Amino acid sequence: MPTALDTPQGAAELAESLLPPLGNRWLHTQAVAARACEASAAVSEGDRDLLVAAAWLHDLGYAPELRETGFHPLDGARHLERLGAPTRLVRLVAHHSGAVYEAEQRGLSVELSVYEREDSEVLDALIYADMTTGPAGQSFDFDQRMDEILERYEPGSEVHNAITKARPYLGAAVERTRTRLGDQPT
Ligand SMILES: [Fe+2]
Repeated sequence: MPTALDTPQGAAELAESLLPPLGNRWLHTQAVAARACEASAAVSEGDRDLLVAAAWLHDLGYAPELRETGFHPLDGARHLERLGAPTRLVRLVAHHSGAVYEAEQRGLSVELSVYEREDSEVLDALIYADMTTGPAGQSFDFDQRMDEILERYEPGSEVHNAITKARPYLGAAVERTRTRLGDQPT
């Protein structure tokens, strides 16, 4: 039997079966997983494996084989659901890093709303890991990461608009995680 998808090992194996051809996206994924491990003290002990598994799988929906709507949080969540992944993992992937904002831009809010968003320490820490890691796995601070996304996607594009709107939400999740980790506020 394959290792459970909500464990770091099972999630890493699935990610490794789909993402390496994507180059930078794979580098980013590995770095986000490492960052989630470092940040795992921000969540309860029982949720640490789930956090790291979600980090491995958050961008799975970029794999061309999984493309349905072209909106990667939704395509990734649907694939995980088909594989029988645990509900919390599916929901975390569906809602990583402010997906509701981009779903709105893409006219996919109804489709995304099938998945409940858990507003939890785990989702905050997943946002923290993703939003402090650059597109090729670099270590970025939050503002650098925001600026990098806004430069990479054209003004007026769905991602550019969504990130602009999501910025306060994402920043608050990063700050809460930092506080939980005992970092000084920035
Ligand atoms: Fe993503």
